[in-house]
Amino acid sequence: IHTEIFDNSTQASLAIANEIADLIRKKQAAGEHCVLGLATGSSPTSVYNELVRLHQEEGLSFKNVITFNLDEYFPMEPDALQSYVRFMNEYLFDHIDIDKENIHIPDGTLPYELVESFCQQYEQMIKDLGGIDLQILGIGRTGHIGFNEPGSHINSKTRLITLDHITRLDAASDFFGEENVPRRAITMGVGTIMKAKRIILMAWGEGKAKIIGRTVEGEVTDSVPATYLQSHPNTTMVLDDGSAAELV
Ligand code: F6R
Repeated sequence: IHTEIFDNSTQASLAIANEIADLIRKKQAAGEHCVLGLATGSSPTSVYNELVRLHQEEGLSFKNVITFNLDEYFPMEPDALQSYVRFMNEYLFDHIDIDKENIHIPDGTLPYELVESFCQQYEQMIKDLGGIDLQILGIGRTGHIGFNEPGSHINSKTRLITLDHITRLDAASDFFGEENVPRRAITMGVGTIMKAKRIILMAWGEGKAKIIGRTVEGEVTDSVPATYLQSHPNTTMVLDDGSAAELV
């Protein structure tokens, strides 16, 4: 698995934003859509800041961009503080010229009985567009990508999952207490992610060093879903000194 280690997450985020911008421009020049898979959480915020800057100061247009977010808590209202819809609007979508109908985020407001067909449609939309051109990922301390927790199958599709205890613990401060963290989420599957043509996983800080060590150098196992990326042909793990600390 290919790794790139930067001195700090700011420099790393600039490099990632530049790769995304280059792809958008290349697709624009060819008259094609650019399908991006997007993540939330603390890891990608500087990437989104830089994309906003590139739009506002350097004329980067997102008119040809179609996005699919990895996941959303279930249940979740879009205007709630912890909603990933709200997160994406605040960090990216409200500040760029993307067409609103080109934005896709799993719907945390659905009644339970409609979730399965929603997930099937999500998969189908991605397929019909020719797949994800570039997927960005963070990684959880459980080794989850998206919310594919330990035990997730390599061929798993978009679906409703149960969040791991550690993931809910890590989200507790956002929800003002672990008891308020939803027990479930809708996530793209490992299989959905693995079909992306290009994947960039980012991890910052010493808190991620252990799971990055297992992901890059450990055996492929469903108890660390991120290890599946070892068999993806075009994945780069972008790290800073902290998250790379346990690599030999
Ligand atoms: C978020 C997502 C998660 C996060 C991961 C790391 O959409 O899919 O897998 O990327 O939990 O979160 P942070 O970046 O907050 O450490």
